[in-house]
Amino acid sequence: MHTDPICTNRFDLVPMTPAFLEASLCGDRDQAGRLIAAIVPEDWANEGARRRLAQLRQDPTLQAWLLRAVVLRSESRMVGHIGFHARPGEKYLDELAPGGVELGYTIFDKWRRRGYASEAAESLMDWAHRVHGVTRFVVSISPTNLASLGLARGLGFRRIGSHVDAEDGPEDIFERCLGGQPSPKQSPGAGQRGGATSGTSGWKL
Ligand SMILES: CC(C)(COP(=O)(O)OP(=O)(O)OC[C@H]1O[C@@H](n2cnc3c(N)ncnc32)[C@H](O)[C@@H]1OP(=O)(O)O)[C@@H](O)C(=O)NCCC(=O)NCCS
Repeated sequence: MHTDPICTNRFDLVPMTPAFLEASLCGDRDQAGRLIAAIVPEDWANEGARRRLAQLRQDPTLQAWLLRAVVLRSESRMVGHIGFHARPGEKYLDELAPGGVELGYTIFDKWRRRGYASEAAESLMDWAHRVHGVTRFVVSISPTNLASLGLARGLGFRRIGSHVDAEDGPEDIFERCLGGQPSPKQSPGAGQRGGATSGTSGWKL
């Protein structure tokens, strides 16, 4: 299924097709590179990529929402990846952020602290808001992940709860609302650590 890239100042956010994910998971970076017309690093694909591939095989119409390669246009080089975990309105977000989407992002080591994640995340959320009317965005972040916590804060996310992820352990949950009301579940302490909603769940798809 063809889905257009999202173009930002410095990047093309190129949807990862099943063929691209398969090539990456097999370690065939030449083939992966041909498929997105960019230099692709070795071994970037992890369990998360495998999970997204399974989702895509089951429902190809998810393509626009799942993983995208962050391609630095000036070098035709993949410097990270970004995407949502599902399409808007998934059941697991019903309580905390109805109609929302959960965001994930990675910028590879060498390319960090240049504002790349901020630019890619801002543009992806803008696309979801402008084109699809999404108003609620969620990220779940380990309390020890200072980089991601700083990034989320800078993007305007506020803490609305916490949970224990089966793979990643304890995580705080943050929300950003665009042009809409804050989550009804948001506690007075949101934005600070401690308090708020907590639980264990099938939260991560
Ligand atoms: C989190 C991550 C995506 C940030 O990418 P990045 O391109 O370096 O982020 P940016 O340059 O846009 O940084 C934006 C802000 O985030 C914060 N930040 C980024 N890296 C940071 C670090 N190492 N320590 C503290 N704050 C940091 C800062 O506030 C920064 O703004 P500043 O540079 O003006 O101070 C990157 O570190 C990464 O891929 N980490 C591993 C994967 C990961 O943890 N993903 C998130 C899972 S929830």
